[in-house]
Amino acid sequence: MSKRKILVTSALPYANGSIHLGHLVEYIQTDIWVRFQKMRGHEVYYVCADDTHGTPIMLRAEKEGITPEALIARVHSEHLGDFNGFHIQFDNYYSTHSAETRHFSEDIYAKLKTAGLITVRSIEQLYDPVKNMFLPDRFVKGECPKCSAKDQYGDSCEVCGAAYTPTELKNPYSAVSGAKPISKSSEHYFFNLSDSRCVDFLRRWACEGDHLQPEAANKMREWVGEVGENKLSDWDISRDAPYFGFEIPDAPGKYFYVWLDAPVGYMGSFKNLCEREKIQFDKFWQPQSETELYHFIGKDILYFHALFWPAMLQNAGYRTPTKIFAHGFLTVNGEKMSKSRGTFITAESYLRQSLNPEWLRYYYAAKLNSTLEDIDLNLEDFVARVNSDLVGKFINIASRCAGFISKRFEGGLVDGTQYQILQQMVNERFAAWRPDVIEHAFEAREYSAAIRQIMKFADEANEMIHQLAPWEIAKNPDRNDDLQRTCSLGVQLFYLLSRYLKPILPATAQQIEAFLNCAPLTWPQLRDDQPVSDLLLPAGHKINTYQHLMIRIDTKQIDALIAANTQSLAPTVQDAPIKHAEKQQHAVAPLAEIISIDDFSKIDLRIAKIVNAEHVPGAEKLLKLTLDIGGEQRVVFAGIKSAYDPQLLKGRLTVMVANLAPRQMKFGLSEGMVLAAGGGNPGELFILSPDTGAQPGMRVK
Ligand code: 2FM
Ligand code: ZN
Repeated sequence: MSKRKILVTSALPYANGSIHLGHLVEYIQTDIWVRFQKMRGHEVYYVCADDTHGTPIMLRAEKEGITPEALIARVHSEHLGDFNGFHIQFDNYYSTHSAETRHFSEDIYAKLKTAGLITVRSIEQLYDPVKNMFLPDRFVKGECPKCSAKDQYGDSCEVCGAAYTPTELKNPYSAVSGAKPISKSSEHYFFNLSDSRCVDFLRRWACEGDHLQPEAANKMREWVGEVGENKLSDWDISRDAPYFGFEIPDAPGKYFYVWLDAPVGYMGSFKNLCEREKIQFDKFWQPQSETELYHFIGKDILYFHALFWPAMLQNAGYRTPTKIFAHGFLTVNGEKMSKSRGTFITAESYLRQSLNPEWLRYYYAAKLNSTLEDIDLNLEDFVARVNSDLVGKFINIASRCAGFISKRFEGGLVDGTQYQILQQMVNERFAAWRPDVIEHAFEAREYSAAIRQIMKFADEANEMIHQLAPWEIAKNPDRNDDLQRTCSLGVQLFYLLSRYLKPILPATAQQIEAFLNCAPLTWPQLRDDQPVSDLLLPAGHKINTYQHLMIRIDTKQIDALIAANTQSLAPTVQDAPIKHAEKQQHAVAPLAEIISIDDFSKIDLRIAKIVNAEHVPGAEKLLKLTLDIGGEQRVVFAGIKSAYDPQLLKGRLTVMVANLAPRQMKFGLSEGMVLAAGGGNPGELFILSPDTGAQPGMRVK
């Protein structure tokens, strides 16, 4: 198979809002696809960035009393924390407010202008005479011209669904200052989408080519119109000051509209990566490039990606996308996400409730296909499906067999004749099973179909173990060979299956690799004439002791998640911390004696990622933590067992003392210390967490 060169993007989230479960559909969908392609050995880059420009971001910063730059820096680190938490592994996560994005925005604009595709026209717009600014449609409110409903936005009515222009609203007012807007004209810059060069190109590219899903291409035919019909209008790409964005080079006081530089942010982020990693940018962006370019997006922004963006690229002398992959919206329990019902769930709150991000990755994958259909997160089904498929079927294969291998055979799987018998058993039972079905399903983004195949295999494996019943064999001391072979079979089947779930469950896969003592799992290449047993671990392979790989979801965790996301009117959010503070009457321990800054600087505190956490047999208070401090791993025995379930600590960031002399303890060598508050009463212990964005290895000062 030849190595493909692939550049993949997800839509850039706005830099003024939190990542929520709706956003995560796309990032998880993309991340699974990218991980799958990387496992197959292709050269893949996955880039994204914050979408930082526009009026809402400018006004939000003003309201918070900070600069837009400070706002976008803060949100960037919040977004990064959320993405890391859900194992979304970008090769670069950047910002559209960057030199690279400015460069390509100006470059594309200049080329379009040279090609005669930019015109300047005067347009009338509503203007806020108090704030001295033109008002985007969403910032004008008033009464609906059709049904007279009050407080409707300037573009559409939420009561009767009518669409209109802001000037049609009755009794309009500015949502920024409350003032009555006036009509004012100003010069705007337009990209001539109605020019025959654009229309003809888009008819070929979007309507007739295979760059879009069938439903999306149908929409394009509707938007572009038939030959001879010209349904496309020119696109207004400028906004007047005050605006947070890039000023248009030859037009003082005029700025590129946020949607012009947003997709250019894909190029900007990739360029930034190329500079860092010495990748040839031009190879990916030149016309007729042999590399592949895929944009994963929501169906609501198809217009921008399937019309404006390819027309911009084509006419500015760049390559156009290979394919645009649009997905549907997320509903929760069959309805639009709602703040009052607590179903507008933020990524951060999900992680804060210690819910395992891989549960959601799995559930989304089980629901996703390649169409634009919406997907529903039914919370009851979520609990049932994860518990039954992941824990009950998948993890169960290992947990039923691995214990015997450790206890009775010192971790050794069968070899020799027993291994041959095992191979034969696998080949007979799975003769009809072809993993290429799973491969094709992943490639085509038919993840639900891939999961059906994977779970079919898991069912077969469980059935086989159930029939062989190692727990019965274990009762008979004369059947040691049978026991070792049967349990080895279970472990081997678990190994076989794990790689197909690795794109979906990357963190669990890493733990599985440690437990099975094997090399990082890659995508298997199995020729038609090869038996399935060619994919097994070698004869006599030694595994490590089995540790719990995943726990079940408790419905109570979901109730807590909904409660945490439910916005009620009383008490107000602002009141809550004060009331809470009044109740905190803990005795505070007296402060220690003063130390100098030099004394303090002797302590090397580092951000540490808990890559593994486990119980220590025989220890009452200790957990054994494996900490990653940026390329180096440390084992620390921490007295936090009374307060933490080790399973829930895995993947968390905390703070450790990295230069404490190692201490030999009864259970092993402890190479540092994690910091925790409290410690008076059992369970009243709180390990520290850094703010989002901190990375393992960073020094804490
Ligand atoms: O709809 C949105 O959330 C936009 N911020 C997406 C931009 S995608 C790309 F074009 F940058
Ligand atoms: Zn109306």
